Amino acid sequence: MPSRLIIVANRLPVTVSKQEKRLVFHSSAGGLATGLGSFYRQKNGLWLGWPGLSSESARGYEEEIRERLAQESCRPIFLTKRQVEYYYYGFSNRILWPLFHYFLQYVNFEKRFWDSYRQVNRLFCEAVLNEATEEDIIWVHDYQLLLLPGLLRRHLPRATIGFFLHIPFPSFEIIRTLPWREEILEGMLGADLIGFHTYDYARHFLSCVRRILGKDHSLGLVHVSNRVAKVDTFPMGIDYERFAGSPELKEVQAEIRRLRRRIGDRKVILSVDRLDYTKGIPQRLAAFDLFLERYPRYREKVILVLVGVPSRTKVEHYIQLKREVDELIGRINGRHGTLGWTPIWYLYRSLSFPTLVALYHLAEVALVTPLRDGMNLIAKEFVATKTTDRGVLILSEMAGAAREMGEAIIVNPFNIQEVANSLALALEMDEDEQADRLRRLKERLRRYDIYRWTGEFMDRLNHLQEMQHQRE
Ligand code: UDP
Ligand code: G6P
Repeated sequence: MPSRLIIVANRLPVTVSKQEKRLVFHSSAGGLATGLGSFYRQKNGLWLGWPGLSSESARGYEEEIRERLAQESCRPIFLTKRQVEYYYYGFSNRILWPLFHYFLQYVNFEKRFWDSYRQVNRLFCEAVLNEATEEDIIWVHDYQLLLLPGLLRRHLPRATIGFFLHIPFPSFEIIRTLPWREEILEGMLGADLIGFHTYDYARHFLSCVRRILGKDHSLGLVHVSNRVAKVDTFPMGIDYERFAGSPELKEVQAEIRRLRRRIGDRKVILSVDRLDYTKGIPQRLAAFDLFLERYPRYREKVILVLVGVPSRTKVEHYIQLKREVDELIGRINGRHGTLGWTPIWYLYRSLSFPTLVALYHLAEVALVTPLRDGMNLIAKEFVATKTTDRGVLILSEMAGAAREMGEAIIVNPFNIQEVANSLALALEMDEDEQADRLRRLKERLRRYDIYRWTGEFMDRLNHLQEMQHQRE
């Protein structure tokens, strides 16, 4: 049988929810799902993951869910309410997510979260073993499944296993605080190839492997018992043509006209994120507030469209953030608004593709200022959608994307004055300069798109596997 590509990620690209006893299927939010969504279908791949609702809620609907997801080449792995609470909200999003984004003060090291994380990683392992043979290529994704490569390796010693981390890998000083640091690193080392978005993340990982496990490396190769694991950098791209071609689509044009009528001739500053504390939304709002105060000539001339996609809404820090953002927006609109002008348009929901790209197309400025971000695809999608040679990206130096997008206005998101001033700079940038910066950014995004990214990862993985077999 020819080898298949099996993608394993906590979240499937399709999320299922139940509304009044009816199942609703919708696209998942976030960079992993949107980024890989285009690719795995083309490759005739299979995607294993959690469909987004607990097995208790899915009871009686399992077959319907399975059948519907099979049409999208997805296989659901059902998690109990307790597993969702402890493994997903608990270990993944109350420990690993804040820790890896340097929010040490938000971390809650609870042993029962760890027990559940191990249990669910084992459950994912069984689900993969039911599907995969040693001929297949297994590609595990992200921080929810750090133990999985190691577990799979025990059962399939000769299998081809790749792992990619979509979030930052922090420095040793952070990782050393994790009570289960050895197990986590050993789990990752079960893969043949371990990929990160940036060189710094890879370097941090290698330094942790040396200082915590006592294993040295040579050119990113780490010896683990009788095999080697390679650590390398693959900055994730986007489906460039999909975004670049989108302003020509009929439904997008209709959406652009509809929004333009509502906005009038005001200039649009755009901010889109999952509502997550790593994205720096309160700081961004403070900068917009300061901008309106410092540059009164822009009052009534601009609007900030702020989209916050609901995310992990049961975790306390996300609930607090929602409250804080609601209050700040109310305060800023109250302070600067007039009868005919609301400075901030706030949408707390996920957007359809036509609305999202219509906003990218209409915006003069994209304000992307996360405090920490593994990559940030919003920045790349905004640039790719620009077909008019107009538009300026303001990008945080803390986003992985800043490494490849030097033509953006790069800012420190904690420096409110700098971000406020950069808004004025962006709105006043001359047209030739905008066109020149955009052209260079777009060229790079076009070349290193999502297909190139997956292609390079796969080529490197196959090459390593050949090397591995030659050694045996
Ligand atoms: N996105 C989405 N729904 C929306 C708005 C955005 O799915 O309503 C997508 C967007 O197209 C992008 C992803 O969410 O691909 C966000 O990825 P990013 O890397 O910027 O951040 P992440 O959410 O992964 O932290
Ligand atoms: C980030 C993570 C993904 C995750 C996504 C959405 O992009 O890297 O692994 O799927 O956020 O978060 P959620 O918790 O809803 O899956």
